[in-house]
Amino acid sequence: MPTGIVSTGWPAVRDTCTKMGVTFDRWQDGLGRGILAKRKDGLYAAGIGGIIISICRQVGKTYTIGAIIFALCIIFPRLTVIWTAHHSRTSDETFESLQSFARRKKVKPYIRRIRRANGQQQIIFANGSRILFGARENGFGRGFAGVDVVVMDEFQILTNKALEDMIPATNAAPNPLIIGMGTPPRPVDPGEAFRTRRNEALEIKRRNAAGDPVECEMLYLEVGADPDADLDDWGQVEKANPSHPHRVPRQSILRVRKNLADDDSYRREGLGIWDDDRDTARAIPEARWAEGETFAAPDTAPAYGISFSADGMRMALGAAKTDGARMFLEQLDADEGAIDDGMVKLADWFAAKDENGVPRWRRSRGIFISGSAHAPTFKQLLRRRKVLEKWITVLNTPQVMAACQTLDNELKAKTILHPEEGQERLDASIAVATKMPRSKDGGWTWGALTPDGDETPTEAISFALWGARISKLTGRMPGSGRGGGIL
Ligand SMILES: Nc1ncnc2c1ncn2[C@@H]1O[C@H](COP(=O)(O)OP(=O)(O)OP(=O)(O)O)[C@@H](O)[C@H]1O
Ligand SMILES: [Mg+2]
Repeated sequence: MPTGIVSTGWPAVRDTCTKMGVTFDRWQDGLGRGILAKRKDGLYAAGIGGIIISICRQVGKTYTIGAIIFALCIIFPRLTVIWTAHHSRTSDETFESLQSFARRKKVKPYIRRIRRANGQQQIIFANGSRILFGARENGFGRGFAGVDVVVMDEFQILTNKALEDMIPATNAAPNPLIIGMGTPPRPVDPGEAFRTRRNEALEIKRRNAAGDPVECEMLYLEVGADPDADLDDWGQVEKANPSHPHRVPRQSILRVRKNLADDDSYRREGLGIWDDDRDTARAIPEARWAEGETFAAPDTAPAYGISFSADGMRMALGAAKTDGARMFLEQLDADEGAIDDGMVKLADWFAAKDENGVPRWRRSRGIFISGSAHAPTFKQLLRRRKVLEKWITVLNTPQVMAACQTLDNELKAKTILHPEEGQERLDASIAVATKMPRSKDGGWTWGALTPDGDETPTEAISFALWGARISKLTGRMPGSGRGGGIL
């Protein structure tokens, strides 16, 4: 959502729609409220960054946005709207469907006339407002001036350059609205404008989640099924399509599926799934990760791994324990958050004593840390809490690369176990883990495939694993007979 919202133009538009006989479902009502949200100065809050909608086929895009545009045209005399699609076929279809809407008994009185001439499809309202339709593949959309609202359908087929060519059309408008909507781009589509805007939105979302909110001038809506959805699961269709089944019946969905070339196309167009989020690009296949799931953890001394993200916004704590042969890895921290607070709390956690007065770090096989400037800072916090030097390892770059490689190797060798439940952050991190090249000789470290992905949990368990493999510490107190490590 854009920031700085104090009001919305929605109630007036909704009431006008009611008069036209249009009622909205809840998601449509929320979307309309967001699109027309305003800041203190009375301008649309998403007026600068635009409204970007990623949604599958047959949800009600044309219906929803069409009704909103009609209402705006009725409320604001002399409003000019251009509605473009990439393909002329889509543009013609939209014109047809809005034209029949314009002929409805309750809508007709507001309409002066409809022009159908090819290349000049227009709906002209009695108050001088008008909607012009055309296809971008025919050059429509460029060179306009004095436009108040631009709607771009098939937003997945639009380069940044083409987008830049269209925006000046609204330069003179007192309160412009720009709406881009489409399905996730195919690999062959010039989807860069869509992808750029989506990544921007995800970055803002990530910053907000990390407690570092930023100014936002766009509205981004994405609806879709889970990236790994079973294509025959109707529950996933319901997740992707808020109009199914009550507005859009099974047959419509099946028709979409039948008309598409393959499963990947259906994933994008039928279920709204972005290729970017899918398994094909992940370094650790889901099946390989799932193989190591277990409910039993060995009762041996852990090695700990801690990773800080380069920007210092995220951190993760992992532990590795061995049953002699295999290595049991888990993510221990539950909460992300402000690093200062997190670091101090974490250092205290290591210093905390058990019932025998033995601090936690002493029962471990070492603490293995990496992550720019934060690793030495954390080491200092530990040292101030009397953690012995030989328990603390700050990994250098070759060691970080070795640790990441170790996790990859051991997963392939099936020597890794991890908890089946309660590891949402780690599981999510593994799902987007990718190998980021770091050196000319093939060295790499873990990164995330998606802009809001978090590599730190995967790194943390890699450091713990590597530490457990090299540590000579046992974590066993002399004579206590407790917490014994096997190695
Ligand atoms: N609030 C609503 N009231 C009545 N009908 C609705 C509503 N929302 C959606 N629909 C119906 O849902 C169906 C799909 O809507 P629409 O054609 O706008 O979808 P779309 O997302 O533009 O599809 P496509 O991707 O095929 O262009 C239509 O039959 C439309 O009338
Ligand atoms: Mg449509």
